[in-house]
Amino acid sequence: MDHSQFESKSPQEVLKWALEKYGTRVGIASSFGLEDMVLIDMASKITDEFTVFTLDTGRLHEETYLTMDRTRSHYGIAIQSYFPKTEAVEQLEREKGFFSFKESLENRKECCAIRKVEPLSRALSTLDAWITGIRRDQIVTRTDIQKVSEDADRPPLIKINPIADWSLEQVQDYIEKNKVPVNPLHKQNYPSIGCAPCTRPIEAGEDIRAGRWWWENPDHKECGLHRPA
Ligand code: ADX
Ligand code: SF4
Repeated sequence: MDHSQFESKSPQEVLKWALEKYGTRVGIASSFGLEDMVLIDMASKITDEFTVFTLDTGRLHEETYLTMDRTRSHYGIAIQSYFPKTEAVEQLEREKGFFSFKESLENRKECCAIRKVEPLSRALSTLDAWITGIRRDQIVTRTDIQKVSEDADRPPLIKINPIADWSLEQVQDYIEKNKVPVNPLHKQNYPSIGCAPCTRPIEAGEDIRAGRWWWENPDHKECGLHRPA
C-alpha cells in the first residue's frame, strides 16, 4: 500500500485514520515525553478507547513514574506496562553490574536490547500497528522518517509517526494551548527523557538530545526501538 498520501495530513487526521482502521490493535508507544503526551491528548479527543503501552525498563526517573500515574488519572486510561525479562536482567546485573552500559557501545546496546527492545517486541506482537512520537528534526538518524509506513524491522506491522514533521515549538505550543500534563523534568532542562542513568539535563545552546547517552557519538544514539532512517 502506498502511504505517501499521509504526508500532507495533519497529526489528528493521521491519528483518526489509525484509530478507526485498527481500533485497539494500534498502540501508542509512550515514554511520557512531550511528543507522546501530545499524541495521547489528541487520541483522547478522538475516542474513549485507545491503547497506550510503555516499556518500563526499571531504570526510569521517579518523575516519569509520577507522570505515568498522572496521565492515567487525567485521561482515565489504562496504560500497559511491559517489563524486561527477569532472568535476562538478573544475569546482566550479576555478570556486568549496574552500569555496564557506560563501558562500551556494545554493552549499552545489550542493556537497551534487554530492557527496551525485547519488551517492545512483546508489546508489538499484540498489535497490527504502532504510533510513536518521533520527529524528523530530533536527530540525524530520523530525518527521513515517514508519517505512515511498514515497519522495516517488523513487517507487516505498520509504524505511524503522526508528528514526524512537527518542530519542538509546535509540540510545546500544542501542550500549552491544550493544558497537557507533562513530565516535571522538562522544566529542569530535560527536553528528551529516557532512562535515568542515561539521561542528563542539557546546557544552553546544546542539541535537544545532547543529554541522552551523552558520552556517545550522535550517529549511535538509537537504542533499537527505531531503526536509523
Ligand atoms: S529512544 O529510542 O531514543 O529512547 P525517544 O526517547 O526519542 O526514543 O522516543 C521516541 C519515541 O519512541 C517516543 O515518542 C515513543 O513513541 C517511543 N518510546 C521511547 N521510549 C519508550 C518507552 N520507554 N516506552 C514506550 N515507548 C517509548
Ligand atoms: Fe539500559 Fe541506558 Fe538503554 Fe536504559 S537507556 S536500557 S539504562 S542502556
